Amino acid sequence: MDFQAHWQAIHEENGPTDVSWYQAAPTLSLKFVQETKVGPEARILDVGCGQAGLAGPLVERGFRKVTALDISDEAIRRAKERLGGRAEAVVWIRSDVLDFSAPEPFDLWHDRAVLHFFTDPEDQRRYVASMTRNLVPGGHAIIAGFAPDGPEKCSRLPVVRRDPDNFARLLGPGFALIGSEHEIHTTPWGKQQAFQWAVFKRH
Ligand SMILES: C[S@@+](CC[C@H](N)C(=O)[O-])C[C@H]1O[C@@H](n2cnc3c(N)ncnc32)[C@H](O)[C@@H]1O
Repeated sequence: MDFQAHWQAIHEENGPTDVSWYQAAPTLSLKFVQETKVGPEARILDVGCGQAGLAGPLVERGFRKVTALDISDEAIRRAKERLGGRAEAVVWIRSDVLDFSAPEPFDLWHDRAVLHFFTDPEDQRRYVASMTRNLVPGGHAIIAGFAPDGPEKCSRLPVVRRDPDNFARLLGPGFALIGSEHEIHTTPWGKQQAFQWAVFKRH
């Protein structure tokens, strides 16, 4: 499976409001960012930012070191286009999160609906390794994916559905689970999908 080609096609064929994961505002992401109490100088990474993204709302709230990463350059092109002048305040990176190594680690890792696509245990191990090398000790990670009562597929791809304990087992003893929330997301066409959010602090 060529994931890069899959995602490039999804972003070429669909605008931000045409996909199931579209939300008018990243309300829970912003709530959890606020709860971590990171300041405006915090280095924040949005993994698999897509087109709608968290970057714009973070910049609007005064965060000055926001990085948005996606495997698809079309996602990044559309996200920038959507943000207009505010896009200049964001660092944009086209990369597979599994291969990513930042020159300087981040204070906050945010992932909405990316980790759940890694069904292969080796990819899951690489995801945790990426998170560990790209996050400072004491840094936070906010992760959301489909909950056990959520759909089995997203964007036509199979996903791993998780509860907070399952996230914690995957991340291992290097991360402490400090928050969680079950969310019912409504797609643009009115279907309900259960998401699980989990917040971790790196030891
Ligand atoms: C379901 S969408 C979620 C987008 C965004 N996080 C949101 O909540 O609106 C998944 C996103 O992750 C990106 N993606 C998928 N696999 C990736 C990978 N291995 N590395 C980086 N980005 C990836 C896709 O291109 C897509 O934009």
